[in-house]
Formats: sequence, structure tokens, C-alpha cells
Amino acid sequence: FLKEHMHKHIFLIGMPGAGKTTVGKVLAKELGRDFYDLDQTIQDKVGKSVQNIFIYDGKDAFSEYEYETIKELIYNKPSVIATGGGTVTSEKIVNLMRNNGLVVFVNRDVNHILDDLDLEIRPLVKESIEYIFNVYEERYPLYEQVAHIKIGNEGSITDAVQEIIEALP
Ligand code: S3P
Repeated sequence: FLKEHMHKHIFLIGMPGAGKTTVGKVLAKELGRDFYDLDQTIQDKVGKSVQNIFIYDGKDAFSEYEYETIKELIYNKPSVIATGGGTVTSEKIVNLMRNNGLVVFVNRDVNHILDDLDLEIRPLVKESIEYIFNVYEERYPLYEQVAHIKIGNEGSITDAVQEIIEALP
């Protein structure tokens, strides 16, 4: 498996619950690359959970951590990086990702995401359903715009990984 893009990192973007981390781990293994989960890397580095960073430092500080952490990660050999769902809302993060790698939009139908969440947090409150719908609607065009490649994660993980590999330039 030798393709021209092999010198670049692969960034996975998409909604929370779209399967970026799960797909990313398998993709990395398949390509023989290291895998990084951005949220996890930030948590390890800062020593706080993502939730606590949001509570105590705020959304903008978290975004800055995302930016700084991606800047550090890109010094590694070409890897697969699963990013947080909000990275596309920062123009400087978008530029950093697009200039240093191939950006893949892992899409998953919002109803599909909600079904899975429903299994995890039951009963799911009406507000959070509405919130997820709203975020999805707001961000969908951004994910599409930012990504070089878009794939659908609606079936099995191996299907999604295969779809990415086939779509690689
Ligand atoms: C966020 C998604 C989260 C995490 C943070 C913000 C978002 O990552 O970065 O809670 O705004 O969509 P996941 O997409 O991995 O859940």
C-alpha cells in the first residue's frame, strides 16, 4: 500500500459520536501508523478532563489547547489523529490541519448518533436531543467544507476504514 499522501497526517473530523476514535484506531493499524486521540492527548498533557477544562478554563482555552497540541503532534511521523468535534469552528486549527495533512470527514447520520447515545444515557433528555440536532445542522456544512474527503460511518467499522483507504488520493 503506497500512495502519494503517505507523508501526510490524516485528521479525522466530525460530530461527537460519529466514530472518529474507533475508526481512527483501526485505520492507523491498517496503515501501520501511530494513532492519537486529540481529546485524550490534551487530557494527558493538561492533567484535567475535557469536561473540567471546559468548566474551569473555558471553551476558548480548550480550543487553544487543541491548536497547541496539534502543533506538537504534527512533528511526529505521519499518523492518524482523531480530533474533537469542535476543531472545525477554529479557523487557525482548520488551516493547521489542512496545511499538514489530509482531512477526513467521518459522517454519521444524526439519528444514528442519537440511537447510540440513547443506549448509553437513558433516558436522554429532550434538550440534549435538540442540542445535538442543532450542532449537527450548524456544523455539517463546516465539516464538508473543511474536509478533503468525506465518508459515511453507517455500517461496520471495517467498511468505514475501507472507504477511507479507497478514497485516499
Ligand atoms: C466537542 C467534542 C468533544 C470534545 C469537546 C468539544 C465539540 O470531542 O473535544 O467536548 O464541541 O463537539 P468528541 O467529538 O471526540 O466527542
